[in-house]
Amino acid sequence: MTADKFAGRVAVVTGGAGGIGRALAEAFLQRGARVVLADVDPQALERTVADLRKDGGEVVGVVTDVTSRRSVEALAEEVRRQFGAVHLVCNNAGVAVFGPLREARHEDWEFAMAVNFWGVVHGIEVFLPWLLEQGQGGHILNTASMAGLVGMEWLGIYSASKFAVVGLSEALYRELKLLGIGVSVLCPMMVDTRINENSVRLRPAALRAPGVEPLVPPAEAMKGGVIPPAEVAQRVVRGIERGDLYILTHPEQREILRRRAERLDRMFDPDRW
Ligand SMILES: NC(=O)c1ccc[n+]([C@@H]2O[C@H](COP(=O)([O-])OP(=O)(O)OC[C@H]3O[C@@H](n4cnc5c(N)ncnc54)[C@H](O)[C@@H]3O)[C@@H](O)[C@H]2O)c1
Repeated sequence: MTADKFAGRVAVVTGGAGGIGRALAEAFLQRGARVVLADVDPQALERTVADLRKDGGEVVGVVTDVTSRRSVEALAEEVRRQFGAVHLVCNNAGVAVFGPLREARHEDWEFAMAVNFWGVVHGIEVFLPWLLEQGQGGHILNTASMAGLVGMEWLGIYSASKFAVVGLSEALYRELKLLGIGVSVLCPMMVDTRINENSVRLRPAALRAPGVEPLVPPAEAMKGGVIPPAEVAQRVVRGIERGDLYILTHPEQREILRRRAERLDRMFDPDRW
Protein backbone atom coordinates (compact mmCIF):
# COMPACT_ATOMS: atom_id res chain seq x y z
CA MET A 1 0.00 0.00 0.00
CA THR A 2 1.47 3.39 -0.94
CA ALA A 3 1.96 5.96 1.81
CA ASP A 4 0.79 8.88 -0.27
CA LYS A 5 -3.00 8.79 -0.54
CA PHE A 6 -3.08 10.93 -3.69
CA ALA A 7 0.12 10.92 -5.79
CA GLY A 8 -0.27 8.53 -8.70
CA ARG A 9 -3.64 7.34 -7.41
CA VAL A 10 -6.90 7.34 -9.37
CA ALA A 11 -9.80 9.34 -7.94
CA VAL A 12 -13.40 9.19 -9.15
CA VAL A 13 -15.60 12.14 -8.20
CA THR A 14 -19.34 12.05 -8.87
CA GLY A 15 -21.02 15.42 -9.21
CA GLY A 16 -17.60 16.57 -10.34
CA ALA A 17 -18.67 19.14 -12.92
CA GLY A 18 -18.99 21.96 -10.40
CA GLY A 19 -19.19 23.06 -6.81
CA ILE A 20 -17.60 20.85 -4.17
CA GLY A 21 -16.89 18.02 -6.63
CA ARG A 22 -14.86 20.25 -8.89
CA ALA A 23 -12.93 21.64 -5.92
CA LEU A 24 -12.18 18.10 -4.75
CA ALA A 25 -10.87 17.27 -8.22
CA GLU A 26 -8.64 20.36 -8.21
CA ALA A 27 -7.23 19.50 -4.80
CA PHE A 28 -6.57 15.86 -5.76
CA LEU A 29 -4.90 16.93 -9.03
CA GLN A 30 -2.67 19.32 -7.11
CA ARG A 31 -1.58 16.38 -5.01
CA GLY A 32 -0.66 14.36 -8.10
CA ALA A 33 -3.75 12.19 -8.48
CA ARG A 34 -5.41 11.29 -11.77
CA VAL A 35 -9.07 12.18 -11.74
CA VAL A 36 -12.26 10.92 -13.35
CA LEU A 37 -15.12 13.38 -13.12
CA ALA A 38 -18.61 11.90 -13.40
CA ASP A 39 -21.62 14.14 -13.80
CA VAL A 40 -25.12 14.09 -15.25
CA ASP A 41 -24.68 17.55 -16.81
CA PRO A 42 -22.69 17.03 -20.05
CA GLN A 43 -22.04 20.72 -20.82
CA ALA A 44 -20.81 21.61 -17.36
CA LEU A 45 -18.71 18.45 -17.33
CA GLU A 46 -17.06 19.30 -20.64
CA ARG A 47 -16.24 22.84 -19.48
CA THR A 48 -14.78 21.66 -16.20
CA VAL A 49 -12.66 18.93 -17.79
CA ALA A 50 -11.31 21.47 -20.30
CA ASP A 51 -10.50 23.96 -17.50
CA LEU A 52 -8.69 21.39 -15.40
CA ARG A 53 -6.71 20.08 -18.36
CA LYS A 54 -5.49 23.64 -19.07
CA ASP A 55 -3.72 23.47 -15.74
CA GLY A 56 -2.03 20.26 -16.87
CA GLY A 57 -4.21 17.86 -14.89
CA GLU A 58 -4.68 14.28 -16.00
CA VAL A 59 -8.46 14.29 -15.95
CA VAL A 60 -11.27 12.66 -17.89
CA GLY A 61 -15.01 13.23 -17.77
CA VAL A 62 -17.67 10.54 -17.99
CA VAL A 63 -21.33 11.50 -18.28
CA THR A 64 -22.99 9.54 -15.50
CA ASP A 65 -26.36 9.49 -13.79
CA VAL A 66 -25.74 8.18 -10.29
CA THR A 67 -29.43 7.35 -9.85
CA SER A 68 -28.90 4.51 -12.34
CA ARG A 69 -26.80 1.56 -11.25
CA ARG A 70 -26.20 0.69 -14.90
CA SER A 71 -24.80 4.17 -15.50
CA VAL A 72 -22.42 3.85 -12.54
CA GLU A 73 -21.33 0.44 -13.85
CA ALA A 74 -20.57 2.06 -17.22
CA LEU A 75 -18.56 4.71 -15.34
CA ALA A 76 -16.48 1.99 -13.68
CA GLU A 77 -15.89 0.31 -17.03
CA GLU A 78 -14.61 3.61 -18.41
CA VAL A 79 -12.33 4.16 -15.39
CA ARG A 80 -10.93 0.66 -15.93
CA ARG A 81 -10.40 1.33 -19.63
CA GLN A 82 -8.70 4.70 -19.08
CA PHE A 83 -6.66 4.07 -15.95
CA GLY A 84 -6.95 0.37 -15.06
CA ALA A 85 -7.26 1.14 -11.34
CA VAL A 86 -9.29 3.05 -8.78
CA HIS A 87 -8.24 4.21 -5.30
CA LEU A 88 -10.38 7.11 -4.17
CA VAL A 89 -14.14 7.02 -4.73
CA CYS A 90 -16.03 10.22 -3.93
CA ASN A 91 -19.78 9.72 -3.90
CA ASN A 92 -20.47 13.42 -3.97
CA ALA A 93 -23.32 14.07 -6.44
CA GLY A 94 -26.30 15.49 -4.61
CA VAL A 95 -29.38 17.64 -4.91
CA ALA A 96 -31.22 19.90 -2.52
CA VAL A 97 -34.95 19.62 -1.89
CA PHE A 98 -36.54 22.31 0.26
CA GLY A 99 -39.87 22.82 1.92
CA PRO A 100 -41.93 21.85 4.95
CA LEU A 101 -42.62 18.14 5.25
CA ARG A 102 -46.36 18.74 5.48
CA GLU A 103 -46.23 20.01 1.88
CA ALA A 104 -43.86 17.35 0.55
CA ARG A 105 -44.92 15.48 -2.57
CA HIS A 106 -43.99 11.90 -3.16
CA GLU A 107 -41.84 13.03 -6.11
CA ASP A 108 -39.76 15.20 -3.75
CA TRP A 109 -38.86 12.15 -1.67
CA GLU A 110 -38.12 10.09 -4.74
CA PHE A 111 -35.88 12.72 -6.29
CA ALA A 112 -33.83 13.36 -3.15
CA MET A 113 -33.43 9.68 -2.33
CA ALA A 114 -32.63 8.73 -5.95
CA VAL A 115 -29.61 11.04 -6.08
CA ASN A 116 -28.49 11.51 -2.48
CA PHE A 117 -29.08 7.99 -1.17
CA TRP A 118 -29.17 5.61 -4.14
CA GLY A 119 -26.35 7.53 -5.83
CA VAL A 120 -24.09 6.74 -2.89
CA VAL A 121 -25.30 3.14 -2.70
CA HIS A 122 -24.55 2.60 -6.39
CA GLY A 123 -21.04 4.04 -5.96
CA ILE A 124 -20.38 1.61 -3.13
CA GLU A 125 -21.97 -1.39 -4.85
CA VAL A 126 -19.97 -0.85 -8.01
CA PHE A 127 -16.58 0.33 -6.73
CA LEU A 128 -16.12 -1.41 -3.37
CA PRO A 129 -15.71 -4.93 -4.81
CA TRP A 130 -13.09 -3.53 -7.18
CA LEU A 131 -11.21 -1.75 -4.36
CA LEU A 132 -11.19 -4.95 -2.30
CA GLU A 133 -10.10 -7.22 -5.11
CA GLN A 134 -7.42 -4.79 -6.27
CA GLY A 135 -5.71 -4.95 -2.86
CA GLN A 136 -4.05 -1.52 -3.04
CA GLY A 137 -5.95 0.14 -0.21
CA GLY A 138 -8.07 3.13 -1.02
CA HIS A 139 -10.65 5.47 0.37
CA ILE A 140 -14.37 6.11 -0.01
CA LEU A 141 -15.64 9.63 0.62
CA ASN A 142 -19.40 10.09 0.87
CA THR A 143 -20.75 13.61 0.80
CA ALA A 144 -23.55 14.02 3.32
CA SER A 145 -24.22 17.35 5.04
CA MET A 146 -24.62 18.93 8.44
CA ALA A 147 -28.29 18.17 7.72
CA GLY A 148 -27.23 14.52 7.98
CA LEU A 149 -26.23 15.06 11.62
CA VAL A 150 -29.05 17.33 12.77
CA GLY A 151 -32.61 17.36 11.42
CA MET A 152 -33.47 20.83 10.15
CA GLU A 153 -36.71 22.61 9.34
CA TRP A 154 -37.39 22.92 5.61
CA LEU A 155 -34.76 20.27 5.02
CA GLY A 156 -36.64 17.20 6.27
CA ILE A 157 -36.41 15.22 3.05
CA TYR A 158 -32.83 16.26 2.41
CA SER A 159 -31.95 15.47 6.03
CA ALA A 160 -33.47 12.00 5.73
CA SER A 161 -31.36 11.29 2.64
CA LYS A 162 -28.20 12.61 4.29
CA PHE A 163 -28.77 10.85 7.64
CA ALA A 164 -28.87 7.65 5.61
CA VAL A 165 -25.49 8.51 4.10
CA VAL A 166 -23.99 9.23 7.52
CA GLY A 167 -25.36 5.94 8.90
CA LEU A 168 -24.06 3.80 6.10
CA SER A 169 -20.69 5.59 6.19
CA GLU A 170 -20.29 4.92 9.92
CA ALA A 171 -21.04 1.23 9.36
CA LEU A 172 -18.75 1.01 6.34
CA TYR A 173 -15.90 2.74 8.20
CA ARG A 174 -16.02 0.03 10.88
CA GLU A 175 -16.32 -2.80 8.38
CA LEU A 176 -13.47 -1.70 6.14
CA LYS A 177 -11.04 -0.47 8.78
CA LEU A 178 -9.16 -3.75 8.98
CA LEU A 179 -9.25 -4.24 5.23
CA GLY A 180 -7.11 -1.18 4.49
CA ILE A 181 -9.88 0.96 2.98
CA GLY A 182 -10.70 4.27 4.62
CA VAL A 183 -14.16 5.79 4.75
CA SER A 184 -15.02 9.43 5.40
CA VAL A 185 -18.31 11.26 5.43
CA LEU A 186 -18.23 14.93 4.54
CA CYS A 187 -20.77 17.01 6.46
CA PRO A 188 -20.54 20.68 5.51
CA MET A 189 -22.91 23.49 6.35
CA MET A 190 -23.36 26.11 3.63
CA VAL A 191 -20.92 26.13 0.73
CA ASP A 192 -20.88 28.63 -2.11
CA THR A 193 -22.11 26.47 -5.03
CA ARG A 194 -25.01 26.46 -7.47
CA ILE A 195 -26.77 23.53 -5.78
CA ASN A 196 -30.15 25.28 -5.52
CA GLU A 197 -30.36 26.24 -9.21
CA ASN A 198 -28.88 22.91 -10.32
CA SER A 199 -31.34 20.94 -8.24
CA VAL A 200 -34.29 22.65 -9.93
CA ARG A 201 -32.75 22.56 -13.42
CA LEU A 202 -31.64 18.92 -13.29
CA ARG A 203 -34.81 17.48 -11.83
CA PRO A 204 -36.23 14.94 -14.30
CA ALA A 205 -39.84 15.49 -15.41
CA ALA A 206 -40.85 12.12 -13.97
CA LEU A 207 -39.76 13.32 -10.51
CA ARG A 208 -41.64 16.64 -10.60
CA ALA A 209 -45.05 16.85 -9.02
CA PRO A 210 -47.35 18.02 -11.83
CA GLY A 211 -48.00 21.76 -11.66
CA VAL A 212 -45.76 22.28 -8.62
CA GLU A 213 -42.59 24.34 -8.90
CA PRO A 214 -39.77 23.14 -6.60
CA LEU A 215 -39.31 25.51 -3.66
CA VAL A 216 -36.16 27.48 -3.08
CA PRO A 217 -35.14 28.30 0.48
CA PRO A 218 -36.18 31.58 2.12
CA ALA A 219 -33.34 34.12 2.29
CA GLU A 220 -33.17 34.05 6.09
CA ALA A 221 -32.52 30.30 6.00
CA MET A 222 -29.40 30.96 3.99
CA LYS A 223 -27.74 33.32 6.44
CA GLY A 224 -24.58 32.29 8.18
CA GLY A 225 -21.11 31.20 7.27
CA VAL A 226 -20.95 30.31 3.59
CA ILE A 227 -17.50 29.01 2.68
CA PRO A 228 -15.85 28.45 -0.72
CA PRO A 229 -15.67 24.90 -2.11
CA ALA A 230 -11.85 25.06 -2.13
CA GLU A 231 -11.87 25.34 1.65
CA VAL A 232 -14.03 22.23 1.88
CA ALA A 233 -11.64 20.41 -0.45
CA GLN A 234 -8.64 21.26 1.76
CA ARG A 235 -10.48 19.80 4.77
CA VAL A 236 -11.22 16.68 2.75
CA VAL A 237 -7.59 16.21 1.73
CA ARG A 238 -6.48 16.44 5.36
CA GLY A 239 -9.34 14.27 6.56
CA ILE A 240 -8.48 11.53 4.07
CA GLU A 241 -4.80 11.75 4.97
CA ARG A 242 -5.61 11.29 8.63
CA GLY A 243 -8.25 8.65 7.96
CA ASP A 244 -10.95 10.66 9.74
CA LEU A 245 -14.47 9.26 9.60
CA TYR A 246 -16.18 12.65 9.90
CA ILE A 247 -15.02 15.65 7.90
CA LEU A 248 -16.54 18.85 9.28
CA THR A 249 -16.00 22.24 7.73
CA HIS A 250 -17.71 24.95 9.75
CA PRO A 251 -16.58 25.91 13.27
CA GLU A 252 -20.18 26.76 14.24
CA GLN A 253 -21.00 23.06 13.87
CA ARG A 254 -19.22 22.37 17.12
CA GLU A 255 -21.72 24.16 19.34
CA ILE A 256 -24.76 22.81 17.47
CA LEU A 257 -23.51 19.23 17.65
CA ARG A 258 -22.54 19.64 21.30
CA ARG A 259 -26.08 20.79 22.13
CA ARG A 260 -27.56 17.83 20.28
CA ALA A 261 -25.30 15.40 22.13
CA GLU A 262 -26.24 17.07 25.44
CA ARG A 263 -29.97 16.83 24.68
CA LEU A 264 -29.56 13.13 24.06
CA ASP A 265 -27.40 12.69 27.14
CA ARG A 266 -30.00 14.42 29.35
CA MET A 267 -32.51 11.74 28.39
CA PHE A 268 -30.51 9.36 30.58
CA ASP A 269 -30.91 11.54 33.70
CA PRO A 270 -32.61 9.53 36.46
CA ASP A 271 -35.68 11.82 36.46
CA ARG A 272 -36.39 10.84 32.83
CA TRP A 273 -36.64 7.14 33.61
N1 LIG B 1 -23.58 23.63 -1.17
C1 LIG B 1 -23.86 23.36 0.08
O1 LIG B 1 -24.16 24.26 0.88
C2 LIG B 1 -23.80 21.94 0.58
C3 LIG B 1 -23.85 21.73 1.97
C4 LIG B 1 -23.81 20.44 2.47
C5 LIG B 1 -23.71 19.38 1.60
N2 LIG B 1 -23.65 19.60 0.24
C6 LIG B 1 -23.56 18.42 -0.62
O2 LIG B 1 -22.41 18.54 -1.42
C7 LIG B 1 -22.56 17.77 -2.61
C8 LIG B 1 -22.15 18.60 -3.80
O3 LIG B 1 -23.06 19.68 -3.92
P1 LIG B 1 -22.64 21.13 -4.41
O4 LIG B 1 -23.04 22.07 -3.35
O5 LIG B 1 -21.25 21.13 -4.91
O6 LIG B 1 -23.70 21.35 -5.59
P2 LIG B 1 -23.51 21.51 -7.16
O7 LIG B 1 -24.89 21.53 -7.71
O8 LIG B 1 -22.58 22.62 -7.45
O9 LIG B 1 -22.78 20.15 -7.55
C9 LIG B 1 -23.47 18.93 -7.59
C10 LIG B 1 -23.14 18.25 -8.90
O10 LIG B 1 -23.84 17.02 -8.93
C11 LIG B 1 -24.33 16.83 -10.24
N3 LIG B 1 -25.47 15.91 -10.20
C12 LIG B 1 -26.73 16.14 -9.78
N4 LIG B 1 -27.48 15.05 -9.98
C13 LIG B 1 -26.67 14.08 -10.48
C14 LIG B 1 -26.87 12.74 -10.89
N5 LIG B 1 -28.08 12.16 -10.84
N6 LIG B 1 -25.81 12.04 -11.36
C15 LIG B 1 -24.59 12.64 -11.45
N7 LIG B 1 -24.35 13.92 -11.12
C16 LIG B 1 -25.37 14.63 -10.64
C17 LIG B 1 -24.71 18.23 -10.71
O11 LIG B 1 -24.76 18.32 -12.12
C18 LIG B 1 -23.60 19.07 -10.12
O12 LIG B 1 -22.52 19.23 -11.01
C19 LIG B 1 -24.01 17.32 -2.62
O13 LIG B 1 -24.10 15.98 -2.18
C20 LIG B 1 -24.68 18.25 -1.63
O14 LIG B 1 -25.84 17.68 -1.06
C21 LIG B 1 -23.69 20.85 -0.27
